[in-house]
Amino acid sequence: MSEPAPLTDGELFEDLTPGPLDHAIVGREIRIYAETGSTNDLAMTYGGHGTVYVADRQHGGRGRLGRTWHSAPGLGLWFTVALERYADGLTFAAALAVRDALRDRAESKIKWPNDVYINGRKVCGILTERRDDRVAVGIGLNVHHAESDFPEELRQTATSLSRECPGPWRRGAVLAAVLTALDGYVAALYGDAFDRVRDEWAAACNVEGRTVNWEGSVGRAEEIDAAGALVIRFNGDSRKVVSGTVEFLD
Ligand code: BTN
Repeated sequence: MSEPAPLTDGELFEDLTPGPLDHAIVGREIRIYAETGSTNDLAMTYGGHGTVYVADRQHGGRGRLGRTWHSAPGLGLWFTVALERYADGLTFAAALAVRDALRDRAESKIKWPNDVYINGRKVCGILTERRDDRVAVGIGLNVHHAESDFPEELRQTATSLSRECPGPWRRGAVLAAVLTALDGYVAALYGDAFDRVRDEWAAACNVEGRTVNWEGSVGRAEEIDAAGALVIRFNGDSRKVVSGTVEFLD
């Protein structure tokens, strides 16, 4: 794939200058584009340990479980952190970093496994992809959307920062805050702090004792295990769930 043309004007560009952040790893280089297929593909193709690929619009934005991620221009932060070394827990770190970055202005919650919700609606999704040692930690965060900016089928379940919390929100400022928090978590994971990051993420998911619907079966969440799987009790049998769609009913 050829690298898209860089974005050189507009709100996102202005917001993101002066550019690279004085971080240990994440955000030491930031590349901003007007449009691309998926920033995860850019990260997988071009790599760079800690390089962040940001696009104002994605025409092939991907979500988990093969879903499409709606990535319209001007509305959100669609970005991917490329890493050249895998560590367990990177997806947990991304969810915690988004929560932390919003903390002063919004009470967000992590929904197992890695969505971020505000007031019961999804504001952010994370898609981590890996090939050998190359990792793409992709984050989609809805910022400026009004309800009508979402496709009809998402209007009851998706939201944006501007809808839930008083603005104004500046995408560059939010991105910088996420990258600062993520840099700390990533450095911790490379430094063997998986258990601490996992525990913090598991506590933030707040699953214990809640009634869940997993792929049509209703059970009670018992815990998140050491590897991050959700343990659900269905009629006397406990089952470890690592992916799929989980709906929390209480
Ligand atoms: C999900 O909740 O299903 C995950 C959504 C992840 C979306 C982000 S936007 C930036 C990066 N590029 C992609 O194509 N997907 C991720």
